[in-house]
Amino acid sequence: MNDIVSGIGVDVESISRFRIPESKKQSFLIRIFTKKEIRYCNSKRDPAPSLAVRYAAKEAIFKAFSGIGVKCPGYNNIEILNKENGAPIVKINKEGYDKFNILVSLSHSGDMAIAFVVIT
Ligand SMILES: CC(C)(COP(=O)(O)OP(=O)(O)OC[C@H]1O[C@@H](n2cnc3c(N)ncnc32)[C@H](O)[C@@H]1OP(=O)(O)O)[C@@H](O)C(=O)NCCC(=O)NCCS
Repeated sequence: MNDIVSGIGVDVESISRFRIPESKKQSFLIRIFTKKEIRYCNSKRDPAPSLAVRYAAKEAIFKAFSGIGVKCPGYNNIEILNKENGAPIVKINKEGYDKFNILVSLSHSGDMAIAFVVIT
């Protein structure tokens, strides 16, 4: 496989920003995340690190696309899911993005969550 790297993006987020008061939670979550993402994050003892790292991934994807002059599909059209072994994968739920292969790596530690993206 000799895909050519066309876009890269990185983003780091503070996890405490995703400890959202119940009153504001629902409206924020559905604006940014898909139902599957919310279900996955809520399956964790502490959802905030997984929420923060998915938000970081969407920002990194925005940067990678903007670097190659492609319009970002919008926060909740980007879906970060996990394979059986836990590895994250990106799905774009909008037409016109099939030609892009989006690779992502995520990590969260302490109050920081980071995402790195490569688009081929
Ligand atoms: C998978 C692993 C690397 C994750 O590291 P961690 O410090 O627990 O977690 P981090 O905060 O750095 O990263 C968490 C993210 O890693 C991602 N992840 C989980 N499993 C993964 C895997 N198998 N491959 C790639 N990424 C993975 C997930 O996206 C996760 O975030 P999420 O649950 O919110 O989606 C770690 O749990 C592990 O299995 N380490 C063993 C590695 C090993 O065997 N090393 C031997 C030498 S090669």
